[in-house]
Amino acid sequence: MKELVVKGGTVVDATGSRRADVLIRNGAVAGVGEGLDGERVLDASGCIVAPGLVDLHAHLRQPGREEAETVETAARAAALGGYTAVVAMPNTDPPIDSAAVVREVLDLGTGAACDVRVAGAITVGRRGDQLAPMAEMAAMGVRLFTDDGSGVQDARLMRRALEYASALGVTLAQHCEDEALAAGGHMHEGEWSSRLGIPGIPAAAEEVMVARDIALARLTGAPVHFLHLSTAGAVELVRLAKAAGVPVTAEAAPHHFTLTHAEVASYDPVFKVNPPLRTEADVAAVKAGLADGTLDAVATDHAPHPQEDKEEPFDQAPPGMLGLETALPLALTELDLPVERVVALLSWQPAHIAALDGEHGGPVVEGRPANLCVFDPAEAWVVEPERLASRSRNTPYAGRKLTGRVRHTILRGEPVVVDGEAQR
Ligand code: DOR
Repeated sequence: MKELVVKGGTVVDATGSRRADVLIRNGAVAGVGEGLDGERVLDASGCIVAPGLVDLHAHLRQPGREEAETVETAARAAALGGYTAVVAMPNTDPPIDSAAVVREVLDLGTGAACDVRVAGAITVGRRGDQLAPMAEMAAMGVRLFTDDGSGVQDARLMRRALEYASALGVTLAQHCEDEALAAGGHMHEGEWSSRLGIPGIPAAAEEVMVARDIALARLTGAPVHFLHLSTAGAVELVRLAKAAGVPVTAEAAPHHFTLTHAEVASYDPVFKVNPPLRTEADVAAVKAGLADGTLDAVATDHAPHPQEDKEEPFDQAPPGMLGLETALPLALTELDLPVERVVALLSWQPAHIAALDGEHGGPVVEGRPANLCVFDPAEAWVVEPERLASRSRNTPYAGRKLTGRVRHTILRGEPVVVDGEAQR
């Protein structure tokens, strides 16, 4: 492997920022400083050189939904978005609820453009009635468990899962949605659902489960990570729980800090997502939560769906939006936070939650694995769905001008994206 130098950028990591070149050799950072040279040079002038981004929440669709996405195409999209690691959600077909399916997805990720890790299901088949064999999945390195797509409805089962998780040293991640309250809803319940005549999902459907799981985290002492929080009430519950020392973490998806339920006025299912797009006040609360540390991470909830499914009427189309190729620029453009804070939310903070910080998100110093994201925070570009690497096209940001673009992504010392072009 050639020596590589990332030259002329500003290194940003959890220790701060400084102008420095980064020398990479044998998959690891071999030097950080001014005036470094090597056999191959990647230009980083005007760029931030950061630890690679880590996505806690991506639907890779394999096995079973390869017409929407594959591990290979999702990993390419991820690398183009600056990610060096993604956590694959288990709502595949079959679901990732056994060591055999964990193995299958990990094998599919071998040689992909980013590291592919797996979240295992909490319950068998994600059906919510019987615990999945978490120990055998944990033995294969699974560190996050979730029934995402659904929340665990039964509080007693969730308590047992937390006790089990605590013994295994793993974290449960909850999709907070009370199914009885959400039943029949297709968008946020509020002003727009009334006007459009589309049945709504109340904010309370999310908030009652957040409140319940805070109580269960307190009861068991086991950590709970809240997936894709979307309401002001949920953010406030997490804020209070953290202040009280309850072991909870939380993430928000870019669409919940950039879009509101007013988008649904178009009846375009590209704006259908679960949890649904909420109000302006909710968007403001999610942003405030990301700014004050209540929310620990931006996670994509990348949810590819084939065009024909997204062309169904609003009430029949599946929920979900693409996210991997637009998350960083949306965060840079919309959060009004210093770049160091944005990278924290997308890199080392999620890496820590996923227990990936040995390899991803760590400081850019000699000896660390060279998993890096190099991006120009000032480059403007327009989202063109047909140019995305995902196999699906369901981005709600078509035509939107964003600022901030990934120039290079480096995975274990190998450039997997160079000048915005995928190399794998
Ligand atoms: O919008 C969503 N899409 N929310 C989920 O929880 C699941 C996801 C999917 O798998 O499409």
